[in-house]
Parts: sequence; C-alpha cells; structure tokens
Amino acid sequence: MAGSGVFGEIIDGDVFKYYADGEWKKSSSGKAVSIINPTTRKTQYKVQACTQEEVNKVMETAKAAQKSWAKTPLWKRAELLHKAAAILKEHKAPIAEALIKEIAKPAKDAVTEVVRSGDLVSYCAEEGVRILGQGTFLVSDSFPGNERTKYCLTSKIPLGVVLAIPPFNYPVNLAVSKIAPALIAGNSLVLKPPTQGAVACLHMVHCFHLAGFPKGLISCITGKGSEIGDFLTMHPGVNCISFTGGDTGIAISKKAGMIPLQMELGGKDACIVLEDADLDLVAANIIKGGFSYSGQRCTAVKVVLVMESVADTLVEKVKSKVAKLTVGPPEDDCDITPVVSESSANFIEGLVMDAKQKGATFCQEYKREGNLIWPLLLDHVRPDMRIAWEEPFGPVLPVIRIGSVEEGIHHCNASNFGLQGCVFTKDINKAMLISDAMESGTIQINSAPARGPDHFPFQGIKDSGIGSQGITNSINMMTKVKSTVINLPSPSYTMG
Ligand code: G3P
Repeated sequence: MAGSGVFGEIIDGDVFKYYADGEWKKSSSGKAVSIINPTTRKTQYKVQACTQEEVNKVMETAKAAQKSWAKTPLWKRAELLHKAAAILKEHKAPIAEALIKEIAKPAKDAVTEVVRSGDLVSYCAEEGVRILGQGTFLVSDSFPGNERTKYCLTSKIPLGVVLAIPPFNYPVNLAVSKIAPALIAGNSLVLKPPTQGAVACLHMVHCFHLAGFPKGLISCITGKGSEIGDFLTMHPGVNCISFTGGDTGIAISKKAGMIPLQMELGGKDACIVLEDADLDLVAANIIKGGFSYSGQRCTAVKVVLVMESVADTLVEKVKSKVAKLTVGPPEDDCDITPVVSESSANFIEGLVMDAKQKGATFCQEYKREGNLIWPLLLDHVRPDMRIAWEEPFGPVLPVIRIGSVEEGIHHCNASNFGLQGCVFTKDINKAMLISDAMESGTIQINSAPARGPDHFPFQGIKDSGIGSQGITNSINMMTKVKSTVINLPSPSYTMG
C-alpha cells in the first residue's frame, strides 16, 4: 500500500511529507493540497503545501550539494543511479498503486511505467559514463592563419541546479527522464511534481533516498502552483528547467531567465493514411495510438487524415475495434479509464459537442459518467470544427477525409503543434517524402507515434517544445562545454 512499509517515513498522519536536505519534512504552512481520485472523485491523498521560504531553503541546499556531487567520480554517480533503479523496480507495486489512484492509469500500464523508469535510470547511468567520459581535442592550425601553437581540450561540465517539472500523465517516467540525466551529469535536482501524480513521485524519490544519494542533492517540493509555481521557475538559483506539460510551458519559457530550457508541450499528432496502406495495421495503430491511457498522451494519435477512397473501410475497421475496448476503473485494468479531472472531461465534452453541432458523424453514441468518457470516433470532421485542431487529451478521435496527400500534409503543417506524426503506406519512397514535408519533431512510418524507446531523440517544434529529449540528448542538454587551451611557443622555438 502507498505510504506503508519502507515508505512509512514519507507520510505523517494522512499527509505525505516533502523531501529536502535528505529528510522527509512537514511544511511550516500547516496546509495540505488534496489529490482527487479521478475515478471516485473523492480526496485520495494529501500532500504538503510548501512555502516560498521552503523553496528558498531547498535551492540553497541544492546549490551546496551540487558542488561536491560534481567532484564525485562519474563511476560512483553511475553506481548510485543503478542502485536507485533496482530499488525503484523492487517497489513497483506501491508506486503503481499510487498511479492507479491519482491519475487512473490502468493497472498494468502503471506497473509498466515504473519498470520502464527503472530501465531508463540504468540506461542513463550507462550512457552517462560513456559520453561524459569523453571530451574533444582540437589543434589551432586547422583554422586559416594559425600555426600549430594551441591545443584546445573540451569536456562537459554540469549546469548546476536543474528544476524538473513532469506532467500528470507520466509522473514517474517523465520525472526520472529529467532526474537521471541531471544527476549523472553532476547536477543537483529539484523536483516539482504535478499535483495528481505527486504521491507516486514522492515514492519514487524515496527510492533515490534509499539508494543513498548525498543530502540536499535531490529535493521534491509539493504545493500549489499559484503559491510556488512562478516562484520556482523564476528562482535565481535555478540553472536549467526541464518541463513537460501543457501550454504553461510557453509562459514559463517567457518568464525564465537566461538558462537552458527543455520543454515538451503537447501535440496534435496526425496520422496520414494513403490508399495503399495495410488498413488492418492502420486500424490497430489508431486504437493503440489514439486510445491507450484514454488518449492522455502527448504522442497520442490526435487526428486521422485518410484518403477518401479507403476511408469507409478504415472507419469500419476502427469502429469494430473501438467496440471491443473495455471501459471502467483502472483497478480492473480497463482500456478506457476516467480522464484525470472533471475540468478535463468538461473540456473534452465541449470539443465533442462543437463537432456534433457542426455535423460530424458519431461512430458511437457519446457517453459520459463522471470523468469516464466512452471511446468515440468522429468521422467527417471538417477544419471548421475545434476538434480538428485542439488537443482533447481524452478518448475521442477525429477523422478527416482527404482528397490528396498534399491536403493531409497541409492540415498537419497548419497546426500550431509539431510533436510527432505518422504515415501509413507500403511505398517507402512516398513515406520518406511525406516525412520530409511534415513539420513535426518525429515522423513514424507505419506505426503510431511514441516517445520510446527512451534513448531515441524526442522533440517538438513550434508550440510543441524547445530542445530535444531522449537519454543522450538530455544528458548533453544538462551540461555545458568547458575548454582549456594550452598555448605553445611559436614554431621558431627550439627544444635543443
Ligand atoms: O505524453 C507524454 C509523452 O512523453 C508520451 O510518451 O511513451 O506514451 O509515447 P509515450
């Protein structure tokens, strides 16, 4: 159970503590933030409402701890990360339980998220010792006008304090995808978890605590965004922000100082289907891509752009698969579970009603109970409907019928988002040309969009983000280059 066994020390009464200076603490605010279970719509957990003063203290200790951590041998940093990964996997059950209760993640997916996170941490430790164990060596005479009198040695050094802000949909995985690269690179880490997902994050942080990381190196601060959100992101002690979430990221990037930013802010991932596509493969990928975790993934298929000549057949195939999706509580490992909050469900409903009013064809009856929305495929969606452009983050998927591939590419590129996209065709030449033409960070050929495997580069363009993630890119992003130049005497100098 969450908050029991080895996790007993992270809770006080019914309120989970926050983590600072290597200890679990109660906030001096005396206040708590409630976490609503999306399924029961009742308070499931409570976390500390930390104060700005507590943020200041965390930043001070993070800064001090980073200095000695940066001097800790790389192999030792890697060893601790491997240890944390093993502890995380060992305690997958209580962390998965928190994911089920806080964000209604289906039971099996909740366990997968924790195991994937452990693997990510281990991979990051391995990758870190390789790429940080190398530097470059340059000589001056390759640049016009120079003699061979300067040798330049470069290495990668840490940035300092990294602020990690993961989203509700992968609170553990998208937290460790920031924590592990930051730590292996010699940074300290301050984590601000999403409110829903905070308890899973606190459990994950305890696994790092149990692994024996130095005091103050990792902190986890919970609380109200209105109280500590801007204060954290604009804090002068922060040297890098890695954020995944919605358009709050755009506001953060405008307010943050002159520090490196890594942002992943959602998408409207398009699925372009050509006439020669294997329609069974497409239908299977639309189901997986559009409806897994009830569509609450940045990389979910969010609009299908299908050639008119095969649209009827494809829609029928998808429809019959939608009918087989199980709908219900996450504890029963249903395919479709309640969306994260009432406001999210209301937003999704708004998009659905707008499409209905403007004449979209509903392939299923629209049904909602509380935060649970039954899966819905909307055919004959047109560009004047909001759902053609907006990101529902729910189990509702629009189909737009297109008369030409160019029309599909045009729709994709007219979006403000550019995270991922996919194209289905048996003609690799066409697929490559379409991939080149689609303005998105990644294009999948003959598969639904996905972030993983976690060492692949992952990036959005336009409003979908800044920078590139994936293990290697994140490690590099959380470092800066340091050069040392050895100046030698002029060529006329003689050794004899
Ligand atoms: O929604 C966040 C994004 O990172 C999704 O990841 O693994 O479901 O493709 P994934």
